[in-house]
Amino acid sequence: MQSLAGKHCFISGGSRGIGLAIARLFAAQGAGCTLIGRDEDTLLSAANSLHRQEGSSQQHYTTAFDVSTQNGWEKLISDSKLQTCDILVNAAGVSQNSFLFNTSRLDVTEIIATNLTGTIWGCKHFIPKMMKQRKGKLITRCIINVASLLATHGGRGASVYAASKAGVVGLTRSLAWEVGRFGIRANVLLPGYIQTDMTKGSAGMDRKNELSALIPLGRLGLVEEVATAALFLAQNSYAHNCVLNIDGGLSAT
Ligand SMILES: NC(=O)c1ccc[n+]([C@@H]2O[C@H](COP(=O)([O-])OP(=O)(O)OC[C@H]3O[C@@H](n4cnc5c(N)ncnc54)[C@H](OP(=O)(O)O)[C@@H]3O)[C@@H](O)[C@H]2O)c1
Repeated sequence: MQSLAGKHCFISGGSRGIGLAIARLFAAQGAGCTLIGRDEDTLLSAANSLHRQEGSSQQHYTTAFDVSTQNGWEKLISDSKLQTCDILVNAAGVSQNSFLFNTSRLDVTEIIATNLTGTIWGCKHFIPKMMKQRKGKLITRCIINVASLLATHGGRGASVYAASKAGVVGLTRSLAWEVGRFGIRANVLLPGYIQTDMTKGSAGMDRKNELSALIPLGRLGLVEEVATAALFLAQNSYAHNCVLNIDGGLSAT
C-alpha cells in the first residue's frame, strides 16, 4: 500500500458530496488537495474543512471553473504555481430526473458536457503532466473517475446520465490500455445510490425509502463509503482498469 503523505491530488467536484469526502479522506492520509468546482465560496469552505498535518508541506488549494470548458482546464494546467499531480479524481457531475422525451436540449448538452466531456478534458490535460512526473518503477500516479452504477444498469428518468456515465467507463478502460505503460493507473468507481445533494434533490423521504427497499443492504450509501473505495484505488499499486461497484449490492438485483 502506498502512503499518500507528500502526494497531491486534484479533485473535480471536490466542493461537495462524494468529491469532498474523497478529499477529506485523502487529506487525512497526508495528501494535499486542489478542489475544483464552480462556486469559489463553497470551494473555500470545503478546503478549510480538510485536515492539514502541522509542520508538513501539505497544502490545499481551490480553483473555480466549469469542467465542461476546455479553457478552464487549460488555464489550470498552465498555472505556474500548479502542484505536481499524483492523483486525479474526476467526480464533478450533474444528474437527470426526466424521461428522454421530456428532457430539454439544454439539459442533454449540460449532462454530457459535465459528466463525460468534463472527465475527458480532465484526463486529456493531466495525463501529459503525470507522464512527465514518472519516478522509479513503482506506478504511483493514478486517475480515478467517478461513473455510476447506471453506466451498466438501466435507470428510469436517467437515460442521458446513464449514457454519459457509460462513456466514462469506456474512457477509463481505454485509458488503462494507453497510460499504464507510462506509469499511470486508471480506474473507475460505480457508486449506487449515495446520500448527497444529488439524491436529495430528487428524493424526498418517500423516494429514499423506496430506493432503500431496492438495495440489498437496505439503505443508501454514505459518501465516506465511496471515499474508502477511492482510497483503495489510490493506494493499491496493482489496481488498474478496475471497474468498482460500490452500491450496497444493488448491482446484484
Ligand atoms: N449521489 C449519488 O447517488 C451518485 C451515484 C452514482 C454516481 N454519482 C456521481 O458521483 C459524482 C459526485 O456526485 P455527488 O452525489 O457528490 O453530487 P453533488 O453532491 O451534487 O456534487 C456535485 C459536485 O460536482 C460539481 N460540479 C457539478 N457540475 C460542475 C461543473 N460543470 N464544473 C465543475 N464542477 C461541477 C459541484 O460543484 P458546484 O455545483 O459548486 O460547481 C459539486 O462539487 C458525480 O459524478 C455523480 O454523477 C453520484
